[in-house]
Amino acid sequence: MREFTYKSRDGNVEVLINANHGDALEKISGKYTGCVAFVSRSIANRVKVKCPVVPIIDGEEGKSIETALSIVRNAHEIGIDRDGLFIGVGGGSVLDVVGFSASIYLRGVDYVNVPTTMLSMVDASLGGKTGVNALGLKNVIGVIRQPRYIIIDLSFLESLPMPSYIDGFAEVIKYGITMDRELLSQVMNNPDKLLGRDYEVLEEIIYRSLINKASIVEKDELDRGVIRAVLNYGHTVGHAIESVSNFSISHGRAVALGMICEARIGVKLGYTLRDVPGLLVDALTRFNLVNRVTIDANGLVNAMMRDKKRSGGFIKLPVVIDVGRWDLVRVRIEDLTKLVTEECRSTP
Ligand SMILES: NC(=O)c1ccc[n+]([C@@H]2O[C@H](COP(=O)([O-])OP(=O)(O)OC[C@H]3O[C@@H](n4cnc5c(N)ncnc54)[C@H](O)[C@@H]3O)[C@@H](O)[C@H]2O)c1
Repeated sequence: MREFTYKSRDGNVEVLINANHGDALEKISGKYTGCVAFVSRSIANRVKVKCPVVPIIDGEEGKSIETALSIVRNAHEIGIDRDGLFIGVGGGSVLDVVGFSASIYLRGVDYVNVPTTMLSMVDASLGGKTGVNALGLKNVIGVIRQPRYIIIDLSFLESLPMPSYIDGFAEVIKYGITMDRELLSQVMNNPDKLLGRDYEVLEEIIYRSLINKASIVEKDELDRGVIRAVLNYGHTVGHAIESVSNFSISHGRAVALGMICEARIGVKLGYTLRDVPGLLVDALTRFNLVNRVTIDANGLVNAMMRDKKRSGGFIKLPVVIDVGRWDLVRVRIEDLTKLVTEECRSTP
């Protein structure tokens, strides 16, 4: 097992990797006046916790203000007071809505994240961005508030279907290419063990992924500065790809293609070393994350026009300089649309 803490406005956050969630939750919940676990329906029978367990609908459908209200109602009926604890167990959708509900219940109670998908283990569980979808808009209501604990129990991964499991590796490769050369090497050198869900290697790469993310979150917890932009690498184009494909391309695969495209754009703009796009293709291919798809360049450009990182005639784009080094550049929208049309139309 590995553990570390990172700092937040409300105190330290403890992160346990490769822990038994039942043992960890028993110790943690003893410090509170009461606790309640809101868990994804798909894994409800595997959750070991000595608190009332409330199954909730997961996925985008369940990540709603209605679910948040039902969580508040349940907590009130169970008698959770201001010194009580919420526990979220599930993928990113469950953690987002439970974290959000904990943040508004009685003006905020502590919460624990127990992620059960690869994406939520390396990304959604850490950083404090919580929220729900509403009015047909994704994540339109939310707050930034950190969990008190993050418990990563690798045994949850065993039931995760392969496409969903490998999706999380796009984010791991993102941390490697932008911030951590050693992490990228570990991932590229161990595809067989990682695809075989080897706990020893998984523990190490999840640890390194979260350390990297935590170092950024500590410096810009509220996402007010520029540094948190690195976590968005590959996502400007990736989100547009997801939307143009009508979400038939998964988040991980869209981010994978987005990273390759943004790396090519970085080369064209003169910031990125020439071998970076090829290295990314190599790394992502080892995890079967590079789909051969034809992307409608016009649709892509239109989707990017709606990007919330747009400001005036510019968009701020994180670019990789070399493996482990990145910078944020302001690109004129018209230049970016031309580059996207040239560089992102065809996948490798
Ligand atoms: N807050 C953040 O910083 C952040 C970061 C990235 C993504 N997200 C959010 O996370 C969500 C995506 O998360 P996700 O990819 O974890 O998907 P998800 O939560 O939508 O879950 C996907 C599916 O996996 C199933 N599942 C969960 N754990 C399982 C397990 N152990 N075995 C078998 N099936 C399991 C669920 O039932 C669901 O059907 C999106 O809503 C996204 O906006 C948030």
